[in-house]
Amino acid sequence: MQWMIEIYRSAMFKKVVMAVTGLMLFGFVIGHVAGNLKIYQGKYVDGIHQGEYKLDVYAEGLRELGAPVLGHGQALWIARIGLLLAVALHIWSAYQLTLVNRRGRPQAYQKVTPQASTYASRTMRWGGVIILFFIVYHILHLTTGSVHQSFEAGQVFHNVVRGFSNPLVSGFYILANLALGLHLYHGIWSLFQSLGLNGQRFNDLRHKIAVAFALIISLTNISFPVAVLTGVVHL
Ligand code: HEM
Repeated sequence: MQWMIEIYRSAMFKKVVMAVTGLMLFGFVIGHVAGNLKIYQGKYVDGIHQGEYKLDVYAEGLRELGAPVLGHGQALWIARIGLLLAVALHIWSAYQLTLVNRRGRPQAYQKVTPQASTYASRTMRWGGVIILFFIVYHILHLTTGSVHQSFEAGQVFHNVVRGFSNPLVSGFYILANLALGLHLYHGIWSLFQSLGLNGQRFNDLRHKIAVAFALIISLTNISFPVAVLTGVVHL
């Protein structure tokens, strides 16, 4: 029993929780951005879905996953619960690791000299808070429609285009996705560190990998509101 308590209390356990939940959320973000690319594909021109937006058919397809066994939309609920747990544990481990770091200091610093690591962890914390606010807003905006001016259930393409035609809304999406890019950059960089893939030999490569993933995800996400505001994507 004692050993379980010791594992639970260790910084290593919290780092593993952070890394595993971070990877789960990263996987979701990649899948989500890939699915959202259907925004650029417009409508089906023939076949059984002729005239329907590809994004709408894709979203309905997600609700249909596992339907014969679980029921319509139920697999999505399982994924939502998993995602929610991952977010909660990610925040919990971040908070716990902050406490561990603070306790590690013999006394509070007399003079604070900004260092790369403290700068990064501060960015992570604030970035994390912005992303959390964004996710709550985003679900109320495009999933439930509670804060959307003209939400129509099941009309995902319509909801996205109408939603992003408000520059304030688009501005917030752009800001949140910039924060997400920074968060992903630092997260991927730290993940390599936790895996022991650091040092002179790896630093250059892990920097490039972290920059590439962060840029691809955040710029692709930012391209959607920009495409609507510039009229490239329209109803
Ligand atoms: C501009 C970029 C984005 C667009 C266009 C977008 C689009 C959408 C849409 C249309 C939905 C509703 C889907 C449906 O009802 O079938 C949705 C749900 C969701 N999005 Fe995004 N999204 C974007 C960025 C993000 C980001 C960056 C995150 C996370 C950091 C995120 C997390 C979520 C979550 C958690 C849901 C709820 C899923 C559910 O419960 O069904 N999205 N998104």
